[in-house]
Amino acid sequence: MTPSLVVIGSTNVDLFAQVTRHPTPGETILGSGGGRTAGGKGANQALAAGLQGAPVRFVGAVGDDGDARIALGSLEDADVDVTDVQVAEGQPTGLAIITVADDGENTIVVVPGANATVTPADARRAVEAMAQGDVLLMQGELSRTTTETAIRQAVAAGHRVILNVAPWGSLDGDVLTAADPLVLNEHEARQAVAELGLAGAHDSAGCARALREAGTPSVVVTLGPEGAVAVDADGETHVPSPRVQAVDTTGAGDAFTGALAARLLQGDNLRTAVAHAVRVGSYAVQHAGAQPSYPSLTQELP
Ligand code: RIB
Repeated sequence: MTPSLVVIGSTNVDLFAQVTRHPTPGETILGSGGGRTAGGKGANQALAAGLQGAPVRFVGAVGDDGDARIALGSLEDADVDVTDVQVAEGQPTGLAIITVADDGENTIVVVPGANATVTPADARRAVEAMAQGDVLLMQGELSRTTTETAIRQAVAAGHRVILNVAPWGSLDGDVLTAADPLVLNEHEARQAVAELGLAGAHDSAGCARALREAGTPSVVVTLGPEGAVAVDADGETHVPSPRVQAVDTTGAGDAFTGALAARLLQGDNLRTAVAHAVRVGSYAVQHAGAQPSYPSLTQELP
């Protein structure tokens, strides 16, 4: 059987406002937009991987409201298996309120809603259903205990685990160092280094090296327009990003991580997978929104 990527994660509806600049605390400004599209770091990464050709099973929860259809629409269209997405009675679907400024940078506030109902028991069941060769991909938008339970159980069963701790949240050291790779942005990399009490890491490459020396089999630190740095048993590599005009960076990290996971599942080594993921991330920043900005295999990458 062809191995699958199993994504246990969040799904949201993203409510967008375009602004010329971000408001300061206490300030009201006028914006435009108001569109609602599918989002959530888990669902985003599941979709990005599916569009890059990986068989994907997504495990999560939506509310019993109209937003659930929006949240799952793109996944279903891309043939991502959503049969293990629960409907949480009396809960709203997760909501992300996103402002995107003229320079393409965003701010995001996530209201978890149904995502908070995904329990360690749900995660355990999802991992038990994984077949040999399946890879687990997780992010930081479910509860800490759900994330830690899933990862520990997957590791015990011999599955590869890819972990993108976004948004950053404390996790036990054995969970952080089990990830292969641990995928972080520069800010998250510093927090992971601090969490593990590692000294002497001054820049992103230094953080990646320190995390690997602490026992993490492989580490990828994303550097926005500068690409990504990756460290594994074969050494360290910096993959620059193609120069593109960023319109909206929302979900670009998820596009990167989903594409990376798809390529690793398909047997690429870390360097080749990162090189592809950087191009997918660069494609995504050139388009508005999270999921609507993701390329399929037929789209030309920068
Ligand atoms: O990474 C981008 C995502 O973060 C958005 O889609 C939003 O839903 C939040 O989860």
